[in-house]
Amino acid sequence: MREITTSMAQFFREHLALKYVFFGGKGGVGKTALAGATAIWFAGQGKRTLLASTNPVHSLSGLLEQSVFGAPTPVKGVDLLSAYEIDTRETIERSKKEIREKIQWFLKFADISTKAEDFVESATMNPAFEESAMFENMVDLMLKDEYDVYVFDTAPTANARRLLGMSKVYSLWVDKMLKSREEARTLREMLSFTKKKEEDPLLAYLLQFRQRMGQARERLTNAEKTAFFFVTLPEALPIAVITRFIGWFHEFGIPVGGVVVNMLLDRQALGEKVPDFVRNRIQMQDEHMKTIWEKFDRSVRAIVPLFDQEVRGIEMLRQAGKALFAESG
Ligand SMILES: Nc1ncnc2c1ncn2[C@@H]1O[C@H](COP(=O)(O)OP(=O)(O)O)[C@@H](O)[C@H]1O
Ligand SMILES: [Mg+2]
Repeated sequence: MREITTSMAQFFREHLALKYVFFGGKGGVGKTALAGATAIWFAGQGKRTLLASTNPVHSLSGLLEQSVFGAPTPVKGVDLLSAYEIDTRETIERSKKEIREKIQWFLKFADISTKAEDFVESATMNPAFEESAMFENMVDLMLKDEYDVYVFDTAPTANARRLLGMSKVYSLWVDKMLKSREEARTLREMLSFTKKKEEDPLLAYLLQFRQRMGQARERLTNAEKTAFFFVTLPEALPIAVITRFIGWFHEFGIPVGGVVVNMLLDRQALGEKVPDFVRNRIQMQDEHMKTIWEKFDRSVRAIVPLFDQEVRGIEMLRQAGKALFAESG
């Protein structure tokens, strides 16, 4: 068996300014569980920590066995840790309301007598709307700066790369909008009889929005502040998924913290009489571990065993944390 070069604990010691920690990977590989264990670990290091899920399929309350829905909530039993399951419905409603206001401003500003509602519908019916509303919510949390460390449990499908790609698209979009707003404004001023300058609330909003997105992108691409960890099982499909993700992330310049292997069968715990199907699974895992070492080499940060029960509740999370933060060697 190969050895881990830089463990999770070592990596965090080498990145003391780290503030945004993400877990990605295929569904069911243990992202939520490991994000929880990591958040508890950071709180144990004396950092005010927020564990937040941008995942519309909620699971943090279940993970912690206490409700953390709708607002950052102190976690009972863990000092310095708060957790927050973002309320998708509320986030979407709030976003819709903001868009409605912007459109109303704009229509009034441009003297167009159309109902805002038609525009609101078309702006919010698009499938990426939910995703972008959740992304904005995450950016809000990040820029509020109320915690030392944020651990994000990201949605498996709405993969983080797309979210970040979106911040780039946002910038381009805002630039374009700004340009046409400026042009419209100049034209208006030229045509108007009074020389009085009008303030353009949409323009002000776009400027502020672009600034926020720029700040978020700056932080998310800063390797001192941000690290994405990819969770895999010793199985073909999850390995293929994170291979793709890691490729994308490198392309986008988003810092990859490393790879965590979860649910490895502990052969030492098995004793003598191992049934054939278990033996076969161990052999299969061995093969996939070879691939993992070949592909990810020095980026493997931890190998977490398969426990005899689900990772749920603070006690179990601490136990998973012990494995995740075991010193290598
Ligand atoms: N090392 C492990 N041993 C045993 N069960 C685990 C382990 N890691 C995760 N689990 C369990 O596997 C299931 C999926 O984990 P979860 O964290 O919800 O995955 P994801 O968030 O990636 O979909 C959960 O029931 C969780 O408790
Ligand atoms: Mg999950």
